[in-house]
Amino acid sequence: MKTRIIGTGSCLPEAVVTNDDLAKIMDTSDEWISSRTGIKKRHLAKAETTASMSVEAAKRALENAGVTAEELDLIILGTVSADYVTPACACEVQAQIGAKNAVAFDVNAACSGFMFALNIANAYIQAGLYRTALILGAETLSKIVDWSDRSTCVLFGDGAGAAVVRGDEKYGMLAFDQGSDGAKGDVLACLGRTNNNPLIKSDREIAYVHMDGQEVYKFAVTTVPASLQKTIEASGLTPEDIDYYALHQANIRIIQSVSKRLHISEEKFPISLDHCGNISAASVPILLDEMNRNGLLKPGTKIAMSGFGGGLTWASAILQW
Ligand code: ACO
Repeated sequence: MKTRIIGTGSCLPEAVVTNDDLAKIMDTSDEWISSRTGIKKRHLAKAETTASMSVEAAKRALENAGVTAEELDLIILGTVSADYVTPACACEVQAQIGAKNAVAFDVNAACSGFMFALNIANAYIQAGLYRTALILGAETLSKIVDWSDRSTCVLFGDGAGAAVVRGDEKYGMLAFDQGSDGAKGDVLACLGRTNNNPLIKSDREIAYVHMDGQEVYKFAVTTVPASLQKTIEASGLTPEDIDYYALHQANIRIIQSVSKRLHISEEKFPISLDHCGNISAASVPILLDEMNRNGLLKPGTKIAMSGFGGGLTWASAILQW
């Protein structure tokens, strides 16, 4: 039995903000942003929330899969920007789509969140505990980035992506790899809320996303190709056998470096970061949905997927569509 993606969906906020728009409100330029990152524009939430975009993406994925909400046994949602501490965003999705038979919870693995959700769902399906799962990556990063730090705020966007997965005899996941390095957690962090407990003295203030860009770059260009190599080998394939590499959309330079290290043409690396920016956990499922709806994915198409980011965390999987 293999875990197969049988439908995808995504949702982006209505408002589009270009690099030139950002240059009107801070000291930056389209030239600086696009030459270093490949990002040209991003969607930023105004009325939308992490939950509202997740619900829309979920509905589209269910429709694409031909599965009803009642058929879902499991909902796992990767996010670092849920609307509430509790209830989990996955529980909000469950309630709003009417998936009354599902178990629902969030996972916090930053930009690897969707891939962690996929691998957890795979484990449940392999164990025979559940048959059909909805997995999502969803973020409203615009509310946790530091808008006074031009070196980070220009990189990120908002959105949600979803996939329905189910056990299948023929096609599906061939291999996966997952890892974490908590000792390097401080290179990409968001300390979050403050503490107003009157019994203790806390000097901790609300803190937004902080990143050491060069350390993140070094981590990504070494860990991602190694994880992909390992996973491709475990699947019994070679890098040339893979039809598409669907990677976390952090930065075009990281993707180019991975393609060079694997000796695989950049044409096999579809891109959404140019129009979406980096949407952390949502970037891989949004890219997958674009590939699916653009007709790139046919039964049997071989895809290598990889997420990497805060934690530090990373996860890769090889799937036959
Ligand atoms: N516009 C104009 N100038 C800027 C901007 C901006 N938005 N941001 C920073 N600068 C300036 C800096 O002030 C600095 O100026 P100085 O030389 O006068 O001091 C100069 O540009 C270089 O700044 P650096 O921070 O050193 O920029 P760098 O060349 O490292 O590029 C970048 C930053 C693109 C983030 C790079 O480090 C990178 O590619 N990192 C990879 C990690 C990444 O993409 N992370 C995304 C999120 S994490 C994830 O998803 C896994």
